[in-house]
Amino acid sequence: MGKLRPGEAEQLAPVHTGRRHPLRGLLLLLWTLLNCGLGDNAQGPGEWTPWGSWSRCSSSCGQGLSVRSRRCIRFPGEELCWGHTHEYRLCQLPDCPLGAVPFRDLQCALYNGHPVLGTQKTYLWVPFYGAPNQCDLNCLAEGHDFYHSFGRVLDGTPCSQGSPGLCVAGRCLSAGCDGLLGSGAREDRCGRCGGANDSCLFVQRVFRDAGAFAGYWNVTLIPEGARHIRAAHRSRNHLALMGGDGRYVLNGNWAVSPPGTYEAAGTRVVYTRATGREETLSAAGPTSQDLLLQVLLQEPNPGIEFEFWLPQELYSPFQAQARALGWPLWQPQPREVAPRPPEPPAAPTVILHQTPTPTSDPCPPCPDTRGRAHRLLHYCGSDFVFRARVRGRLRQAQETRYEVHVQLIYKNRSPLRALEYVWAPSRCPCPVLALHREYLLAARRLISPDGTQDRLLLPHAGYARPWSPAEDSRVRLAAQHCPV
Ligand SMILES: *[C@@H]1O[C@H](CO)[C@@H](O)[C@H](O)[C@H]1NC(C)=O
Ligand SMILES: *[C@@H]1O[C@H](CO)[C@@H](O)[C@H](O)[C@H]1NC(C)=O
Repeated sequence: MGKLRPGEAEQLAPVHTGRRHPLRGLLLLLWTLLNCGLGDNAQGPGEWTPWGSWSRCSSSCGQGLSVRSRRCIRFPGEELCWGHTHEYRLCQLPDCPLGAVPFRDLQCALYNGHPVLGTQKTYLWVPFYGAPNQCDLNCLAEGHDFYHSFGRVLDGTPCSQGSPGLCVAGRCLSAGCDGLLGSGAREDRCGRCGGANDSCLFVQRVFRDAGAFAGYWNVTLIPEGARHIRAAHRSRNHLALMGGDGRYVLNGNWAVSPPGTYEAAGTRVVYTRATGREETLSAAGPTSQDLLLQVLLQEPNPGIEFEFWLPQELYSPFQAQARALGWPLWQPQPREVAPRPPEPPAAPTVILHQTPTPTSDPCPPCPDTRGRAHRLLHYCGSDFVFRARVRGRLRQAQETRYEVHVQLIYKNRSPLRALEYVWAPSRCPCPVLALHREYLLAARRLISPDGTQDRLLLPHAGYARPWSPAEDSRVRLAAQHCPV
């Protein structure tokens, strides 16, 4: 950006002294011609002198401009130097006293009482901000309805009120993160000016775990020092954020916070909730303390995308902490969100691929639940009918929890995830599901009266048949016979 004064350069005079040798000029001309004649302008550009020192700040208070320059030294035949002859940087002096006359006002006021516009009339001039080029000195004749442009404003004049740009040579430039005007230098994701994103790691993941009932679930720790944090999902669930002190920043204690900007961990967290049920959190960081991202589940979690950038030295501690909490390990820099094959939730009670408990099972035999009427009754009366493979089983005092991998959905009232828990209301469920087998299941959604639990229920003597092509067509047929 910002070629300020291109091509401004000096030629080194071939002879510095006043007296020239008559032959000397001829020789030089010959030399130049020879070079040109050979089609050889390949002498390249000239050479810059070192930069001069920075000038004093253009203003005496507040923000101003300081400039330094260099010259291009070149011999005949050499091209212009590449680059700029001048560099401008911001200088920041203590704030101006209240009531100080702004720089632009001063420049307009210089024309007060002087005849302008070719007549003897004089006016009082004040800045006018409505003209097209904000780096022209556009001044309004006070008490009149016209303005006049008195050429460019002086370098270092703010482009407009309250904007960060300054006028330089008639153009509005803003400072890069290196303080140079028009350099275009920007902070990288790691917060380094002009960096290449290489001093930090990008953590990006889709959180698909979380349990089968409503409540708060940990999604991820966002360590102190994280930048460019973002989380988003689309469901009736709510993202919740907890500060390092254990207090909620938003959506805590079962209360949903309004969308808006929240101050937390030394940064501003922007929270949005759209009508399309999309919810997002974002913060520029860097954060000054750990944050805990949670989700308040009300329905099955369709996936929560989150990402942030972490200084390299903080990555290992972050991993160690996640490991200590029993969370899955996250590899750095998976730049594309590759929806991982779902993993079993990390709840400590999960027993996967447990072999069926042998013999001595005191469970009574199950009632016979075959028949078309039974199938129809459960198909029509259920919230979900799906085909699933049993991956795990956990027997508890009052209930049995199956972990199933959903293969195909025939009917659902709300989204089903690939992995679900299905609960049966007894230690001796009927019908019994065997591990690693595939079934057609009809389940109900059960929400506890206080709203804290939301489960898939396989009722006693409900519908659960080993999957087969024949059963599949019977189920499809049942679908056509439900009362509307
Ligand atoms: C740093 O990463 C951001 C986001 O991925 C990208 O937009 C930007 O171009 C990257 N910067 C550099 C210098 O690679
Ligand atoms: C969630 O994480 C916090 C803090 O890291 C931890 O204290 C808490 O036990 C976790 N909760 C669950 C349900 O794992």
